[in-house]
Amino acid sequence: DNPVIVAIDGPSGTGKSSTSKAVAAKLGLSYLDTGAQYRAITWWMLNNGIDVNDPAAVADTAGKAVVVSGTDPLDPQISVDGVDVTMPIRSQEVTAAVSAVSAVPEVRSRMVEYQRAAAASAAAGIVVEGRDIGTTVLPDATAKIFLTASAAVRAARRSTELNGTVSVAATQEALTRRDAADSGRKTSPLAMAADAVEVDTSELTLDQVVDRVVALVEQKL
Ligand code: C5P
Repeated sequence: DNPVIVAIDGPSGTGKSSTSKAVAAKLGLSYLDTGAQYRAITWWMLNNGIDVNDPAAVADTAGKAVVVSGTDPLDPQISVDGVDVTMPIRSQEVTAAVSAVSAVPEVRSRMVEYQRAAAASAAAGIVVEGRDIGTTVLPDATAKIFLTASAAVRAARRSTELNGTVSVAATQEALTRRDAADSGRKTSPLAMAADAVEVDTSELTLDQVVDRVVALVEQKL
């Protein structure tokens, strides 16, 4: 049997990470958070004093950082050059800089290499979440899901994740800006694959979304 590959894409705050981890755990699959990889290389650039708004500087250094992603859905860890960055990649500084870094083709080609290698080496299969997994990274995935939710719901969820330290309005503004950048970039923008199934999570609980996605995957087996 071919390994099962589940591609889960969508904008920020639609529940991709929670859903992907739960689906992987339920189906006994590995898990890869590709957003964490773009965040890790962004953290490395900031930490090394690279001007993230200078695409040439980002392109020149993209090959230097070594990103290693754990694939355990119950405890996904990520390191860059041997430093565990699982927590620091969630900072507002990284979040604000990541779209500029991820738009640089040299960064993307390197991350896509990591992502295809992870999928190829997952014995039972893998759930891969991101923005361009179904369109570009793994176009032959077994199942492709595109998660959406209203802007207000996404902002409220993200604000809760940040323990209310940032207002819902500011969160919504930041999310909208990041999605516009991710959808508008030239290389491999955020987009739904023609053969993906869209799941609007606005009115669903996490359990309902997970059940829906598991059912969609099982249909394809
Ligand atoms: O999923 P998360 O919000 O952590 O992703 C952070 C950023 O990484 C996105 O806003 C986007 O700029 C970038 N990204 C990407 N392609 C992916 C996954 C994430 O460009 N497959």
